Amino acid sequence: MSEQLKIGIILGSTRQGRVSPQVGEWIKGIADGRRDGHYEIIDIAEYKLPFMGEGDPEDAGVKSWAQKIDEMDGYVFIVAEYNHSITGALKNALDTAYQEWNNKAAGMVSYGSTGGARAAEHLRGILGELLVADVRVHPTLSIFTDFEQFHTFKPAELHTKTVHDMLDQVTAWSGALKGLR
Ligand SMILES: Cc1cc2nc3c(=O)[nH]c(=O)nc-3n(C[C@H](O)[C@H](O)[C@H](O)COP(=O)(O)O)c2cc1C
Repeated sequence: MSEQLKIGIILGSTRQGRVSPQVGEWIKGIADGRRDGHYEIIDIAEYKLPFMGEGDPEDAGVKSWAQKIDEMDGYVFIVAEYNHSITGALKNALDTAYQEWNNKAAGMVSYGSTGGARAAEHLRGILGELLVADVRVHPTLSIFTDFEQFHTFKPAELHTKTVHDMLDQVTAWSGALKGLR
């Protein structure tokens, strides 16, 4: 039997008081029920990454970040919109690896006042440069209606199907790109 696909669910915000872990756990709960891969939450905050190029080249966080990204066959990015883009922490984490990202697939789940759509579109441009194949289906969550008081995550039921559709594409492309790697 072929090895299970490994899909990393990357929390895109490191802000104290962030909502991204609630969104990531929700995606993991749906994904785990599918039994089509090993899904793992990857929290950028745990790696304490220095700004790219500023830290010790032997920095343990940088090394373990690159190793974790390398281990994965695909990713689901949990994307918070900050000033119409992704967070600085996510951009730095993306810049902190290169070959480790190459020829993998990714989906994204974004949130904000317009579903985080502007941030997600920025992320697509970055992923192209990293040779990450980003899938079309993209669940967008409203900070007004999918969260109570902008903090407690209560997603509308309709998003569940979109998450499955996105994961169908991520797993298909993650499996296909294994052959290329
Ligand atoms: C510095 C900053 C800039 C923001 N800019 C936007 C924005 O441009 N568009 C938007 O929809 N929400 C914006 N927000 C609201 C965030 O999407 C919201 O606070 C969300 O909870 C952030 O995700 P997090 O809690 O996981 O960090 C901004 C929040 C911060 C802190």
